[in-house]
Amino acid sequence: MAQSTDLPALSPLADVSAIRQELNLPPRLLMGPGPINADPRVLRALSTPLVGQFDPTFRVAMRETMALYRLVFETANDWTLIVDGTARSAIETAMISAIEPGERVLVLSFGRFGQLKTEIARRIGAEVKVLETTWGTVFAPEQVEAALKAFSPALVAVCQGDTSTTMCQPLEELGRICHRYGALLQVDATATLGGTPLPVDAWEIDCVTGGLQKCLAGPSGAAPITLGDAFARRVYRRRHIEEGVRPANYVPGVGRIIPSNYMDLAMIMDYWGDGALNHHTEATSMLYAARECARIFVLEGANAIHRRHAAASRAMVAGLSAMGLEVFGDVAHKMPNVTGVAIPAGVAGDKVRNALLEDFNIEIGTSFGPLHGKIWRIGAMGYNARRDAVLLTLAALETVLAAEGYRFTRGAGVDAAYHAYKA
Ligand SMILES: Cc1ncc(COP(=O)(O)O)c(C=O)c1O
Repeated sequence: MAQSTDLPALSPLADVSAIRQELNLPPRLLMGPGPINADPRVLRALSTPLVGQFDPTFRVAMRETMALYRLVFETANDWTLIVDGTARSAIETAMISAIEPGERVLVLSFGRFGQLKTEIARRIGAEVKVLETTWGTVFAPEQVEAALKAFSPALVAVCQGDTSTTMCQPLEELGRICHRYGALLQVDATATLGGTPLPVDAWEIDCVTGGLQKCLAGPSGAAPITLGDAFARRVYRRRHIEEGVRPANYVPGVGRIIPSNYMDLAMIMDYWGDGALNHHTEATSMLYAARECARIFVLEGANAIHRRHAAASRAMVAGLSAMGLEVFGDVAHKMPNVTGVAIPAGVAGDKVRNALLEDFNIEIGTSFGPLHGKIWRIGAMGYNARRDAVLLTLAALETVLAAEGYRFTRGAGVDAAYHAYKA
């Protein structure tokens, strides 16, 4: 057995001669819980020529990106920007910058990504309380209120959609409840932003983070974030600019220094602000991609996009049910962009996924923790929340399941989904 001091296993490259060849990966249809195929317009934006990060034209592109994401988040928040890194970088950047060691954080955990926020809060040294609910369910507002009353946290952290369970937590009331008890609300909308309604201002959410690789139809690697005034002020009072780039008139904030340089949101705000602080080297190509994701969202319109995701979800559920498969969890609170489905008895879950990948170039998701080996997670989001992608996935699944000996009415799944789309 590996000792804790051993380095991880790392097998050698099978075919060393391939390193001289151009990368040539198969054209997969990504129908898992994300990432999904990027919209071709986003891929084109990624190849926009590079300019310097302080080039006046790039600074304008940054301002445009901020304005576009205010529309995506439905907010007037000034501090709406992009954090460089995958979605968890924005979650961690926000939390490490807002919360000091010893402060209280309440995590509402209904799956693996609730566990992630717990992990981040604990690493920060916060006093963490975790409110848990069975995987496949969500919280009632009264449960959250009771926990707030008992624990008095400075921050409440929750997912909107947790892809591990496919559940979507209603958030309408949570911001107001948090504020009643003096707490701020941080929402991880990585998996839902752009596919599920999330009016940040109307719901009084103090900080929301997202990712591009799910409903926003981009690659992973840039994380949109929006900060309400109270959250932004909480962070900025901890502003400590690194020595090499301090302006002449620099006065440090009164709060404790943020214990990460890269994730120092106060310095990131200074970088995005008019002072254009020389912090990180902006990932310019990812900013082009993020801008294009938001532009596409605005072009199609929030209502149309949400309808497209809801239609894909209805069709997927109709199709899977018609095949005699059981949709996982509290379906009334299912995320529209991911559907969990129980692996039928006698069917080898991984074998089915491998056959879909090898024979049809279609990827669907496995699952984690208590659900591992019990459900598949099938996504239809962003660029792939399309009728053809849903029908193709169901058709391929029918063929593979039939080959595995699963008994059902052939064609029923595709037909039901087809008719759900027509209804
Ligand atoms: C709800 C949720 N939060 C956070 C993450 C982490 O995002 P990333 O892998 O981009 O860091 C994911 C990824 O699937 C997610 O679904």
